[in-house]
Amino acid sequence: MLNDRKQIAEFGDFQTPPQLAEAVCRLLAESIPCPATIVEPTCGVGNLLVAALKAFPTTKQAFGVDINPEYVAKAQQRVELECPTADLTQGDFFSTNWKQFLMDCATPILVVGNPPWVTNTHLSKLGSLNSPDKSNADGVSGYEAISGKSNFDISEWMLIRLLDWLSEHNAVLAMLCKTSVARKVLAYAWRSGIQIQSASMHLIDAQASFGVSVDACLLVCVLAPASNCDTCVVYPNLSKHNSGSKIGYIDGQIVADVDRYLHWRSLSGHSPFRWRSGIKHDCSAVMELKPTSTGYINGMHERVEIEDTYLFPLFKSSDIANDRIDAPKRYLLVPQRRVGDDTHVIRQLAPKTWAYLESHGVQMENRRSTIYKHQPRFAVFGVGDYTFGPWKVAVSGLYKRLAFRIVPSFESKPSVMDDTCYFLACDTEEEANLLLHLLSSEPSQEFYSSLLFRDSKRPITVDLLRRLDIRALAQELGCEERLAEFVYLREVSGRYGAKRRAVQPALFD
Ligand SMILES: C[S@@+](CC[C@H](N)C(=O)[O-])C[C@H]1O[C@@H](n2cnc3c(N)ncnc32)[C@H](O)[C@@H]1O
Repeated sequence: MLNDRKQIAEFGDFQTPPQLAEAVCRLLAESIPCPATIVEPTCGVGNLLVAALKAFPTTKQAFGVDINPEYVAKAQQRVELECPTADLTQGDFFSTNWKQFLMDCATPILVVGNPPWVTNTHLSKLGSLNSPDKSNADGVSGYEAISGKSNFDISEWMLIRLLDWLSEHNAVLAMLCKTSVARKVLAYAWRSGIQIQSASMHLIDAQASFGVSVDACLLVCVLAPASNCDTCVVYPNLSKHNSGSKIGYIDGQIVADVDRYLHWRSLSGHSPFRWRSGIKHDCSAVMELKPTSTGYINGMHERVEIEDTYLFPLFKSSDIANDRIDAPKRYLLVPQRRVGDDTHVIRQLAPKTWAYLESHGVQMENRRSTIYKHQPRFAVFGVGDYTFGPWKVAVSGLYKRLAFRIVPSFESKPSVMDDTCYFLACDTEEEANLLLHLLSSEPSQEFYSSLLFRDSKRPITVDLLRRLDIRALAQELGCEERLAEFVYLREVSGRYGAKRRAVQPALFD
């Protein structure tokens, strides 16, 4: 049973239910001309291939490939009833010469399918080799586009490669996949100039069809020489009615809602305020302390008696998202003020803190991430002058709501956050209030919404936040003069990452 489950996961073996296959092909028949050739590159038992041949009864040739010989035999029998010349072969997608194969096909070609929905990381955990071979793929642009990533979907690799191989042909690629994969594939196609005539995504209920809780769709890309469409309409179902939002590629970035983005495009740009992530320490059991009436307790329920010197009020993503910022529930031991600071000074400045850290040295040294290697003992990341700014405007990166909050200092100690939160550091309450007002305004929320894919696992990232030009936003809301004062003070002090500017004495007269 376990082996069965492992195999299903390894080969992404979720056969498309006939009903869904029929709905997919009905939509294709309404949208595209009859193909001369239909290809199913991971055909399984042939459900999509059979449905496609029924939807396009005048198609002359059909090909299918699957790694599983039993599926191929079954599919051959079924497909032959619709297309006597159909040719199904047992084969491995990754070692098939698709480029040559597609070149020999009569056009227009329809490539329809449902490739495995599994990531390379999951495959390596299973000890599976069912993934692209790096050494064989050298110099292949599609592979290079994604090989830099430590974790990618196998289907993403397959679809990108198929687009590359189809790019010179009159062809349609119609594939069931995760919506996140569809977007990455489109982003690749738009960035690399693949000649797309039109593209659409049609959302499907993956829970109902495959029993998996993931956002999924049918991605349809119509390719034709000399085309350059860089938008994609997202439909809520397998029809061409009720058109939803339009995603697209504008200003070198993929946007979630083209019309909304174009409306607020003037807010796009670099901001004089720099978004930062909270502190990364990877050892909450040692570093995070709970205040109790009898002193601090660490994550191992040990009583901890240390100086306050290196302790700071800590707020986590759930606190920020749920606006629980009235009193800190935890304190964080922050041994450095900047990345790379020598930590040995703690021994003199706060001997009890040093002794505590040393007594838990093994846990600290066993932190899994390699970033701590060759760093001072007990090092953390995500620290700088911004960490110790007395006021912050923060948002959680673990939630999908763009709810900005003011995080003040407590008992004269700046509050800190963990690395799932993003924030702007401020010197004064007035500055924090102004930034909160700007970021919570309708133009800001609309602008971010135009870029934000809510079905992503973690749509709010530091990169997303940095795309808004806060100065342009202040102008839109008529607050540019108030904001300019704070920008000026930052630039004079060079604090929080501001580009330092020379002081003009006359301004202080
Ligand atoms: C999600 S199922 C879809 C099957 C079929 N396309 C359908 O829609 O019903 C994925 C299929 O990919 C096949 N497969 C997995 N890895 C493969 C590979 N490396 N080469 C060819 N087929 C593969 C599996 O055997 C399985 O039949």
